[in-house]
Amino acid sequence: MPSYSQRSKRRILIVVAIVIGIAVIAAIAIPLALRGGDNDDEDDKKDDKSRNKSEAVTGSQPNDCFPEAEGNPSQANETVCQSRGCRFDANATKSPVCSYQDESYRLKVTDISTNDHGFTVKLEQVGSAPFGGDVANWIFRFENKGENVARFTFDTEDGNRYKVPKTMNLQSHSASSPNYDVKITNNESFAFQITRKDTGTVIWDSASVILSNQFLQAATLLPSTYVYGLGEQKHETLRHKLTKTWPAFSRDQPPSFDVRHYILPTNF
Ligand SMILES: *[C@@H]1O[C@H](CO)[C@@H](O)[C@H](O)[C@H]1NC(C)=O
Ligand SMILES: *[C@@H]1O[C@H](CO)[C@@H](O)[C@H](O)[C@H]1NC(C)=O
Ligand SMILES: *[C@@H]1O[C@H](CO)[C@@H](O)[C@H](O)[C@H]1NC(C)=O
Ligand SMILES: *[C@@H]1O[C@H](CO)[C@@H](O)[C@H](O)[C@H]1NC(C)=O
Repeated sequence: MPSYSQRSKRRILIVVAIVIGIAVIAAIAIPLALRGGDNDDEDDKKDDKSRNKSEAVTGSQPNDCFPEAEGNPSQANETVCQSRGCRFDANATKSPVCSYQDESYRLKVTDISTNDHGFTVKLEQVGSAPFGGDVANWIFRFENKGENVARFTFDTEDGNRYKVPKTMNLQSHSASSPNYDVKITNNESFAFQITRKDTGTVIWDSASVILSNQFLQAATLLPSTYVYGLGEQKHETLRHKLTKTWPAFSRDQPPSFDVRHYILPTNF
Protein backbone atom coordinates (compact mmCIF):
# COMPACT_ATOMS: atom_id res chain seq x y z
CA MET A 1 0.00 0.00 0.00
CA PRO A 2 1.30 3.49 -0.72
CA SER A 3 1.75 5.62 2.34
CA TYR A 4 -0.86 8.33 2.25
CA SER A 5 0.80 10.15 5.09
CA GLN A 6 3.72 10.90 2.80
CA ARG A 7 1.51 12.90 0.50
CA SER A 8 1.17 16.62 0.76
CA LYS A 9 -0.88 17.54 3.80
CA ARG A 10 -3.24 19.74 1.88
CA ARG A 11 -4.51 16.88 -0.19
CA ILE A 12 -7.71 15.39 0.95
CA LEU A 13 -9.77 12.64 -0.40
CA ILE A 14 -13.18 11.90 -1.49
CA VAL A 15 -14.65 8.47 -1.07
CA VAL A 16 -17.71 7.45 -2.94
CA ALA A 17 -19.06 4.28 -1.41
CA ILE A 18 -22.25 2.93 -2.79
CA VAL A 19 -23.93 0.18 -0.87
CA ILE A 20 -26.65 -0.64 -3.32
CA GLY A 21 -26.40 -3.01 -6.23
CA ILE A 22 -25.75 -0.74 -9.14
CA ALA A 23 -22.91 -0.46 -11.55
CA VAL A 24 -20.51 2.34 -10.77
CA ILE A 25 -20.87 4.93 -13.40
CA ALA A 26 -18.88 8.06 -13.03
CA ALA A 27 -18.45 10.87 -15.44
CA ILE A 28 -16.43 13.82 -14.38
CA ALA A 29 -16.51 17.10 -16.12
CA ILE A 30 -13.11 18.52 -15.48
CA PRO A 31 -13.29 22.20 -14.73
CA LEU A 32 -10.29 23.12 -16.79
CA ALA A 33 -11.52 26.63 -17.26
CA LEU A 34 -11.87 27.22 -13.54
CA ARG A 35 -8.50 27.32 -11.96
CA GLY A 36 -9.58 28.62 -8.56
CA GLY A 37 -8.03 25.75 -6.67
CA ASP A 38 -4.59 26.23 -8.16
CA ASN A 39 -4.23 29.81 -7.02
CA ASP A 40 -5.36 29.42 -3.47
CA ASP A 41 -2.26 28.05 -1.83
CA GLU A 42 -2.21 30.75 0.85
CA ASP A 43 -5.79 30.09 1.87
CA ASP A 44 -5.13 26.38 1.86
CA LYS A 45 -2.18 26.80 4.20
CA LYS A 46 -4.24 28.88 6.60
CA ASP A 47 -6.98 26.33 6.39
CA ASP A 48 -4.59 23.49 7.15
CA LYS A 49 -3.32 25.22 10.27
CA SER A 50 -6.77 25.65 11.69
CA ARG A 51 -7.88 22.19 10.76
CA ASN A 52 -7.74 19.65 13.54
CA LYS A 53 -5.23 17.15 12.21
CA SER A 54 -6.14 14.35 14.59
CA GLU A 55 -9.73 14.61 13.49
CA ALA A 56 -8.67 14.62 9.86
CA VAL A 57 -6.69 11.44 10.33
CA THR A 58 -9.54 9.54 11.86
CA GLY A 59 -11.96 10.72 9.20
CA SER A 60 -12.90 8.63 6.21
CA GLN A 61 -9.83 7.52 4.27
CA PRO A 62 -9.56 5.49 1.11
CA ASN A 63 -8.17 2.50 2.98
CA ASP A 64 -10.71 2.62 5.82
CA CYS A 65 -12.09 -0.90 6.11
CA PHE A 66 -14.58 -0.01 8.84
CA PRO A 67 -16.59 2.77 7.19
CA GLU A 68 -19.61 2.21 9.43
CA ALA A 69 -17.57 3.58 12.37
CA GLU A 70 -17.73 6.91 10.51
CA GLY A 71 -14.25 7.89 11.61
CA ASN A 72 -14.74 7.01 15.27
CA PRO A 73 -11.93 4.53 16.01
CA SER A 74 -13.57 3.25 19.19
CA GLN A 75 -16.44 1.93 17.11
CA ALA A 76 -14.20 -0.35 15.01
CA ASN A 77 -14.39 -4.00 16.05
CA GLU A 78 -11.18 -6.03 15.74
CA THR A 79 -12.87 -9.38 15.08
CA VAL A 80 -15.11 -7.97 12.39
CA CYS A 81 -12.21 -6.04 10.89
CA GLN A 82 -10.05 -9.14 10.59
CA SER A 83 -12.92 -11.17 9.16
CA ARG A 84 -12.85 -8.72 6.23
CA GLY A 85 -9.19 -9.49 5.58
CA CYS A 86 -8.24 -6.08 6.92
CA ARG A 87 -5.55 -5.08 9.39
CA PHE A 88 -6.52 -3.86 12.84
CA ASP A 89 -4.25 -1.52 14.77
CA ALA A 90 -5.96 0.10 17.73
CA ASN A 91 -3.14 2.63 18.08
CA ALA A 92 -2.92 3.69 14.45
CA THR A 93 -2.72 7.46 14.06
CA LYS A 94 -1.57 7.87 10.46
CA SER A 95 -4.02 5.37 9.01
CA PRO A 96 -7.47 4.15 9.97
CA VAL A 97 -7.69 1.71 12.86
CA CYS A 98 -8.95 -0.90 10.40
CA SER A 99 -7.36 -0.73 6.95
CA TYR A 100 -7.59 -2.65 3.69
CA GLN A 101 -4.65 -4.81 2.72
CA ASP A 102 -3.59 -5.45 -0.86
CA GLU A 103 -2.68 -9.00 0.17
CA SER A 104 -6.32 -9.69 0.98
CA TYR A 105 -8.06 -7.88 -1.86
CA ARG A 106 -7.08 -6.06 -5.02
CA LEU A 107 -8.02 -5.75 -8.66
CA LYS A 108 -5.31 -6.88 -11.05
CA VAL A 109 -5.08 -5.61 -14.62
CA THR A 110 -5.12 -8.56 -17.04
CA ASP A 111 -5.61 -6.77 -20.36
CA ILE A 112 -5.57 -3.25 -21.76
CA SER A 113 -6.97 -2.43 -25.19
CA THR A 114 -7.30 0.96 -26.81
CA ASN A 115 -10.10 2.11 -29.09
CA ASP A 116 -11.20 5.28 -30.88
CA HIS A 117 -12.65 6.85 -27.73
CA GLY A 118 -10.21 5.75 -25.08
CA PHE A 119 -9.34 2.37 -23.65
CA THR A 120 -10.74 -0.69 -21.88
CA VAL A 121 -9.08 -2.50 -19.01
CA LYS A 122 -9.94 -6.02 -17.87
CA LEU A 123 -9.68 -6.44 -14.12
CA GLU A 124 -9.53 -9.64 -12.15
CA GLN A 125 -10.27 -9.86 -8.45
CA VAL A 126 -7.42 -11.27 -6.36
CA GLY A 127 -8.35 -12.39 -2.83
CA SER A 128 -11.78 -11.82 -1.32
CA ALA A 129 -13.90 -8.69 -1.32
CA PRO A 130 -13.98 -7.21 2.21
CA PHE A 131 -17.76 -7.10 2.37
CA GLY A 132 -18.55 -10.29 0.45
CA GLY A 133 -20.38 -10.47 -2.88
CA ASP A 134 -17.25 -11.35 -4.83
CA VAL A 135 -17.31 -10.68 -8.56
CA ALA A 136 -14.35 -12.25 -10.34
CA ASN A 137 -14.04 -9.96 -13.36
CA TRP A 138 -14.68 -6.30 -14.09
CA ILE A 139 -14.25 -4.01 -17.05
CA PHE A 140 -13.00 -0.46 -16.63
CA ARG A 141 -13.78 1.76 -19.59
CA PHE A 142 -12.28 5.15 -20.15
CA GLU A 143 -13.85 7.44 -22.73
CA ASN A 144 -12.71 10.78 -24.04
CA LYS A 145 -15.94 12.79 -24.37
CA GLY A 146 -14.49 16.05 -25.50
CA GLU A 147 -11.69 18.44 -24.59
CA ASN A 148 -12.80 18.86 -20.97
CA VAL A 149 -14.81 15.73 -20.24
CA ALA A 150 -13.37 12.40 -19.16
CA ARG A 151 -15.80 9.57 -18.48
CA PHE A 152 -15.02 6.29 -16.79
CA THR A 153 -17.22 3.37 -15.88
CA PHE A 154 -16.86 0.05 -14.12
CA ASP A 155 -19.06 -2.80 -15.26
CA THR A 156 -19.10 -6.58 -15.33
CA GLU A 157 -18.13 -8.39 -18.53
CA ASP A 158 -21.72 -9.33 -19.37
CA GLY A 159 -22.83 -5.70 -18.91
CA ASN A 160 -25.91 -6.93 -17.04
CA ARG A 161 -25.61 -4.82 -13.94
CA TYR A 162 -28.28 -2.24 -13.29
CA LYS A 163 -27.59 1.18 -14.72
CA VAL A 164 -29.35 4.37 -13.82
CA PRO A 165 -31.76 4.90 -16.73
CA LYS A 166 -30.59 8.39 -17.47
CA THR A 167 -29.31 9.59 -20.79
CA MET A 168 -26.30 11.76 -20.31
CA ASN A 169 -25.92 14.53 -22.78
CA LEU A 170 -22.31 13.83 -23.56
CA GLN A 171 -20.69 14.54 -26.86
CA SER A 172 -20.38 11.40 -28.99
CA HIS A 173 -17.07 12.20 -30.64
CA SER A 174 -13.74 12.39 -28.87
CA ALA A 175 -11.50 15.42 -28.78
CA SER A 176 -8.33 14.83 -30.76
CA SER A 177 -6.35 16.72 -28.18
CA PRO A 178 -8.10 16.74 -24.79
CA ASN A 179 -6.88 19.08 -22.05
CA TYR A 180 -6.15 16.14 -19.79
CA ASP A 181 -4.02 13.01 -19.72
CA VAL A 182 -5.03 9.71 -18.21
CA LYS A 183 -2.75 6.90 -17.19
CA ILE A 184 -2.85 3.67 -15.24
CA THR A 185 -0.51 4.01 -12.28
CA ASN A 186 -0.71 0.48 -10.91
CA ASN A 187 -1.44 -2.78 -12.72
CA GLU A 188 -1.15 -5.10 -9.72
CA SER A 189 -3.64 -3.15 -7.61
CA PHE A 190 -5.54 -1.15 -10.18
CA ALA A 191 -5.16 2.62 -9.90
CA PHE A 192 -5.25 5.46 -12.40
CA GLN A 193 -4.70 9.19 -12.61
CA ILE A 194 -6.19 11.99 -14.65
CA THR A 195 -3.92 14.99 -15.00
CA ARG A 196 -4.58 18.50 -16.32
CA LYS A 197 -2.16 18.81 -19.20
CA ASP A 198 -1.01 22.39 -18.94
CA THR A 199 -0.34 22.51 -15.19
CA GLY A 200 0.30 18.86 -14.41
CA THR A 201 -2.27 19.00 -11.59
CA VAL A 202 -3.60 15.55 -10.77
CA ILE A 203 -7.37 15.97 -10.90
CA TRP A 204 -8.34 12.35 -10.20
CA ASP A 205 -5.86 10.36 -8.15
CA SER A 206 -7.37 6.95 -7.73
CA ALA A 207 -6.65 5.75 -4.22
CA SER A 208 -8.79 2.68 -3.61
CA VAL A 209 -11.13 0.76 -5.86
CA ILE A 210 -13.34 -1.92 -4.32
CA LEU A 211 -15.90 -3.58 -6.52
CA SER A 212 -18.24 -6.26 -5.27
CA ASN A 213 -21.88 -7.03 -5.77
CA GLN A 214 -23.24 -4.57 -3.25
CA PHE A 215 -20.27 -2.63 -2.00
CA LEU A 216 -18.65 -0.34 -4.52
CA GLN A 217 -16.01 2.21 -3.68
CA ALA A 218 -14.04 4.55 -5.87
CA ALA A 219 -11.81 6.93 -3.96
CA THR A 220 -9.60 9.78 -5.07
CA LEU A 221 -7.24 12.21 -3.44
CA LEU A 222 -8.13 15.76 -4.43
CA PRO A 223 -5.71 18.48 -5.49
CA SER A 224 -7.55 21.18 -3.54
CA THR A 225 -9.44 21.67 -0.30
CA TYR A 226 -12.11 23.65 -2.13
CA VAL A 227 -15.07 21.29 -2.28
CA TYR A 228 -18.64 22.43 -2.72
CA GLY A 229 -22.05 20.89 -3.27
CA LEU A 230 -21.27 17.29 -2.37
CA GLY A 231 -24.54 15.47 -1.82
CA GLU A 232 -27.43 17.13 -0.08
CA GLN A 233 -27.12 18.00 3.59
CA LYS A 234 -27.38 21.07 5.76
CA HIS A 235 -24.05 22.80 6.15
CA GLU A 236 -23.01 25.99 7.87
CA THR A 237 -20.75 27.12 5.05
CA LEU A 238 -21.03 26.74 1.30
CA ARG A 239 -17.51 25.31 1.20
CA HIS A 240 -17.36 21.88 2.82
CA LYS A 241 -15.35 21.52 5.99
CA LEU A 242 -13.11 18.55 5.39
CA THR A 243 -12.71 17.35 8.94
CA LYS A 244 -15.78 15.18 8.78
CA THR A 245 -17.45 12.66 6.53
CA TRP A 246 -20.05 14.05 4.14
CA PRO A 247 -22.65 11.64 2.82
CA ALA A 248 -22.78 11.80 -0.95
CA PHE A 249 -26.12 10.16 -1.60
CA SER A 250 -29.57 11.20 -0.55
CA ARG A 251 -31.90 9.24 1.67
CA ASP A 252 -35.61 9.55 2.32
CA GLN A 253 -35.52 11.57 5.51
CA PRO A 254 -36.21 15.19 6.45
CA PRO A 255 -33.46 17.80 6.86
CA SER A 256 -31.26 18.12 9.95
CA PHE A 257 -27.54 18.44 10.51
CA ASP A 258 -25.15 15.61 9.72
CA VAL A 259 -27.59 13.45 7.84
CA ARG A 260 -28.30 12.97 4.19
CA HIS A 261 -31.61 14.22 2.87
CA TYR A 262 -34.09 13.11 0.34
CA ILE A 263 -34.69 14.02 -3.28
CA LEU A 264 -31.45 15.09 -4.90
CA PRO A 265 -28.84 12.79 -6.37
CA THR A 266 -25.17 13.45 -5.86
CA ASN A 267 -23.88 16.60 -7.42
CA PHE A 268 -20.28 17.66 -7.32
C1 LIG B 1 -8.81 17.92 17.96
O1 LIG B 1 -9.55 16.72 18.02
C2 LIG B 1 -9.20 15.89 19.11
C3 LIG B 1 -9.94 14.57 18.96
O2 LIG B 1 -11.28 14.78 18.60
C4 LIG B 1 -9.51 16.64 20.42
O3 LIG B 1 -9.12 15.84 21.51
C5 LIG B 1 -8.75 17.94 20.44
O4 LIG B 1 -9.11 18.68 21.59
C6 LIG B 1 -9.05 18.76 19.19
N1 LIG B 1 -8.19 19.94 19.15
C7 LIG B 1 -8.64 21.14 18.79
C8 LIG B 1 -7.62 22.23 18.76
O5 LIG B 1 -9.80 21.35 18.45
C1 LIG C 1 -17.01 -7.59 17.92
O1 LIG C 1 -17.83 -8.31 17.06
C2 LIG C 1 -17.99 -9.68 17.47
C3 LIG C 1 -18.71 -10.42 16.35
O2 LIG C 1 -19.86 -9.74 15.93
C4 LIG C 1 -18.76 -9.69 18.78
O3 LIG C 1 -18.93 -11.04 19.23
C5 LIG C 1 -17.96 -8.91 19.80
O4 LIG C 1 -18.68 -8.79 21.00
C6 LIG C 1 -17.62 -7.51 19.30
N1 LIG C 1 -16.71 -6.88 20.22
C7 LIG C 1 -16.93 -5.68 20.73
C8 LIG C 1 -15.87 -5.15 21.63
O5 LIG C 1 -17.94 -5.04 20.49
C1 LIG D 1 -1.72 0.32 22.06
O1 LIG D 1 -1.67 1.22 23.13
C2 LIG D 1 -2.01 0.64 24.38
C3 LIG D 1 -2.14 1.72 25.41
O2 LIG D 1 -1.15 2.69 25.24
C4 LIG D 1 -0.94 -0.41 24.72
O3 LIG D 1 -1.25 -1.03 25.95
C5 LIG D 1 -0.91 -1.46 23.62
O4 LIG D 1 0.13 -2.37 23.84
C6 LIG D 1 -0.70 -0.81 22.25
N1 LIG D 1 -0.89 -1.83 21.22
C7 LIG D 1 -0.06 -1.99 20.22
C8 LIG D 1 -0.39 -3.06 19.24
O5 LIG D 1 0.92 -1.29 20.06
C1 LIG E 1 0.67 -1.64 -16.98
O1 LIG E 1 0.67 -2.57 -18.04
C2 LIG E 1 0.79 -1.97 -19.33
C3 LIG E 1 0.55 -3.04 -20.38
O2 LIG E 1 1.26 -4.20 -20.07
C4 LIG E 1 2.14 -1.29 -19.45
O3 LIG E 1 2.26 -0.68 -20.71
C5 LIG E 1 2.26 -0.25 -18.34
O4 LIG E 1 3.54 0.33 -18.37
C6 LIG E 1 1.99 -0.85 -16.98
N1 LIG E 1 1.91 0.21 -16.01
C7 LIG E 1 2.48 0.15 -14.83
C8 LIG E 1 2.31 1.36 -13.93
O5 LIG E 1 3.13 -0.79 -14.45
